[in-house]
Amino acid sequence: MCGIVACFSREDCYGKLLAALRRLEYRGYDSAGIALLSAAGLSVRKRAGGVGNLAGPPLPGETGIGHTRWATHGAPTDVNAHPHVCGKFAVVHNGIVENFAQLKAELIAKGETFRSETDSEVIAHLVARAYEGDFFAAVAAACGQLRGSYAVAVLCTDRPGEIVCARSGSPLVAGCAGGALYVCSDVPALGEDACFCAAQDGEFIRIEGGVIRFCGRDGREIPKTFTRASGGGCAEASAAGSFMEREIGEIPAALSRTLEGLRDFDFAPCARAMRGAKNIFAVACGSALHAALAFKDAAEEEAGAPVLCFSASEFRSRAPLAGRGDLVVAVSQSGETADTLGAVRLARSRGAYVLAVTNVAHSSLAGEADLAVFMRAGPEVAVAATKSYNCQLLCLYYIAAQLCYYRKDRFPSYFGELFRLPEAARAAFSAFSAAEEIARAFRDAPAMYFIGRGKEARTAAEGALKVKEIAYLFAEGLPAGELKHGPLALVEEGFPVVALSTSRALLAKMAGALAEVKARGARVALLSQYEEALADPAVDFPVRLPALCERLMPVLSVIPLQHLACRLCLLRGFDPDRPRNLAKSVTVE
Ligand code: AGP
Repeated sequence: MCGIVACFSREDCYGKLLAALRRLEYRGYDSAGIALLSAAGLSVRKRAGGVGNLAGPPLPGETGIGHTRWATHGAPTDVNAHPHVCGKFAVVHNGIVENFAQLKAELIAKGETFRSETDSEVIAHLVARAYEGDFFAAVAAACGQLRGSYAVAVLCTDRPGEIVCARSGSPLVAGCAGGALYVCSDVPALGEDACFCAAQDGEFIRIEGGVIRFCGRDGREIPKTFTRASGGGCAEASAAGSFMEREIGEIPAALSRTLEGLRDFDFAPCARAMRGAKNIFAVACGSALHAALAFKDAAEEEAGAPVLCFSASEFRSRAPLAGRGDLVVAVSQSGETADTLGAVRLARSRGAYVLAVTNVAHSSLAGEADLAVFMRAGPEVAVAATKSYNCQLLCLYYIAAQLCYYRKDRFPSYFGELFRLPEAARAAFSAFSAAEEIARAFRDAPAMYFIGRGKEARTAAEGALKVKEIAYLFAEGLPAGELKHGPLALVEEGFPVVALSTSRALLAKMAGALAEVKARGARVALLSQYEEALADPAVDFPVRLPALCERLMPVLSVIPLQHLACRLCLLRGFDPDRPRNLAKSVTVE
């Protein structure tokens, strides 16, 4: 989604803005722009396409704003790129102005002329019309008219050296790094050795006189503490490979960090909810939803606690289900996903207790939940979730174990095995050569199926999502038992099927499904830790997984699938880190 950055630097402000925009690139975008303010006034450079298109002689000035835009209202063109300028003001915006059509009509009626098709341009006009000599008051008045979500940064030609920023519903952090002051969409944009402090909804951040101040709409200062970003810097993709490949390689280390955090985590504050929740819900989107479904499996089978699992957008679209006495587990790597936040707000407004699982300690989700478990996966830059998915699964299996403890007075039998996950994940890397071979065999297929049974049906869905997302190959993940109910119709000579079979009790049933697809000419890959399953004559590509207790196998079985998706993507000539149309952090509904 869009990323914003504001910078005050006496040296090379333009270069610093460009570098920060590059560090925001992972969020996904299709145009970019920068505005700098100097004694000569505003200079703006904005272009469709990548940040690289902004190259050219540096724009002059010590104060500037920049933007990476992920198009929602209006195509990704030069004109629609931010910053938007109106009179003395330049504005960058992340979010959606829901009442922009009405505001735009009103502004046009008052004589304003619009250049772009964006919702964001109304903000520049509103600020300009509200301005009566007080820069901050004009931004505050304009924000007061907006409905929807926004993080904005504004420059005013009357106030060189000043930037006014505001947050409502979209993330915004202030920080200092390398002698410059910043306000931006997230901590990785600050670079190495940064100190930062996140804004809360309704807060404003001002850069003025070489200092950063937080304040409310009335201008009254809000005291804040800045924290040093721990590993919050965003590593550059090395020549050795994409972020995605490196993030898959980091899975064992990330799992170790997750375990360290979980060991010290105090679940006592949610003991009551765990013990006595009337209903338990799990809400999330995308990969996090697949992890939430794995939580449902574990909580139901191990703790005997039924869990209603929803895509966060669906949870919101239905009549509110959760209320007082209920526990809602919300899962989000970024902690900024609009639908997940919306579901959490809805549940909390109805009195439910929210336990969050997130990778970003200062995220909106962490701030709004009753209790938050941090995954500690480290920054994940590639749009496709990899290490964060494995760490989410670990956190959620750990939480299911706590649920079991509070409800049955004992930990489930898999609990001790959780601590073997880092080592087992490393062992799963030995399946990469087999995944490579599968990628070469399936690279030109028009579509493929991923099938699993029981808990591996979630892994199948996750494998298919990865392939669609970065390899642009249609893939469906489904419970193997569903094949006969329709999907089998597509299976013909050469059709690729990737199967997961990690439960001994289900080996025979999976063998039946494989026989069905093989009889129709499918090329079959099978992932299993069981030799008898791998020896099935229906299997063309056996992928051996390390042995671990069956409950935890989804943490391992997904790893070769992540690698497979990445290899398919590269073989088909695409960039795994920046899939088209997608964004890392989905901050709009
Ligand atoms: C997964 O590869 C995706 N990029 C996507 O489905 C992601 O998991 C989803 O958008 C949810 O993001 P979150 O975990 O930050 O809430």
